[in-house]
Amino acid sequence: MRLMLRSLVAAFLVLAALALAAPASAQPAPPQPTAVNPTALSVQERQLMEQLRAGTPGTGTTVHGRGTIPNTDSYVLIQPQGQAWRAFHQGAMHWVAGIAILGMLALLALFYLIRGTIRVEHGMSGLKILRFSSFERLIHWMVASCFILLGLSGLNVTVGKFLLLPLIGEDAFALTSQWAKYAHNYLAWPFMLGLAVMFLTWVGHNIPNRVDIEWIKQGGGMLANGAHPPARKFNAGQKGIFWAVMVGGAVLSLSGIYLVFPYTAGGVLALQFWNIVHGLAGVLLIAVILAHIYIGTLGMQGASEAMTTGDVDLNWAKEHHSLWVQEEAEKGKLHPHAVGQAAE
Ligand code: HEM
Repeated sequence: MRLMLRSLVAAFLVLAALALAAPASAQPAPPQPTAVNPTALSVQERQLMEQLRAGTPGTGTTVHGRGTIPNTDSYVLIQPQGQAWRAFHQGAMHWVAGIAILGMLALLALFYLIRGTIRVEHGMSGLKILRFSSFERLIHWMVASCFILLGLSGLNVTVGKFLLLPLIGEDAFALTSQWAKYAHNYLAWPFMLGLAVMFLTWVGHNIPNRVDIEWIKQGGGMLANGAHPPARKFNAGQKGIFWAVMVGGAVLSLSGIYLVFPYTAGGVLALQFWNIVHGLAGVLLIAVILAHIYIGTLGMQGASEAMTTGDVDLNWAKEHHSLWVQEEAEKGKLHPHAVGQAAE
């Protein structure tokens, strides 16, 4: 009797379990492409998707397949935003990159043709004043070298297939892209560290003030035969570069960290959003840095020494950063020979 009862209860429990399982299996399976032989090699993916979509209420919604792994995001078969992302990434993004970067190069070439290299009007004095310490230069070149490699490897992801692949062929492109990816993933960290140290080192000199307004009003002495408006260590133009690097660098870092650790906060949509933000911030900052490199080399006589030896000519400093020279003189940081001249 007891045995019979036990087997009845056991049978009931099995049935109950099956019944519980039944609803899930009872749910209508997403429509299967019964009209299409899924093993036929010629089956068009689109045909399958259309069949699947036909079974999913409402167009424009995400179409899920089925899977067994915990990552349910991997079940996504059709994600309309994904098509919008791809259209942007392979369309508008190229235009934005082209206009920003080629546009800036064209502007700089035109400026150089019209204005030429901005010369030190009083000629070089031969006396030097220390502008950037070895620590400041180390941080600058750490950030600069990382950014240049990050910029090139990032551009390779955006336009490498269209610009570099036809030039160097598939094998070389595959190898270059592999190393570019390593560079991009690993140089991001020293870049972010350098950015933080650069911020702490220079933020005090980059707070906008009234001197900057006068500097902007006078076009910063960039225009032909323009007077050199007074400026402290950094003039308004350089403060603009500093804040562009800090804000652009922060956006690149945050979006980049999300791309390295995807799905930490949000699904596929967040990934596509941060990918677009990262790409746009990247090409815009590259354009800004092109202008910075121009003015730090070809565009201005005597500028590059500031970031190579750290010393600049006194006349250069007096013309471009007259208030800074006075501050340095007051701190007793000028060469004795330079003190008299600094006040002129
Ligand atoms: C070959 C590339 C580069 C060259 C030749 C260059 C040159 C220079 C020079 C000469 C200065 C000192 C200007 C002065 O005396 O006031 C400077 C400052 C600076 N550089 Fe660069 N730089 C380069 C790349 C970069 C990059 C990639 C970044 C950031 C991502 C950067 C960020 C800065 C900042 C924030 C300053 C201080 C503000 C300013 O002067 O604009 N530089 N650089």
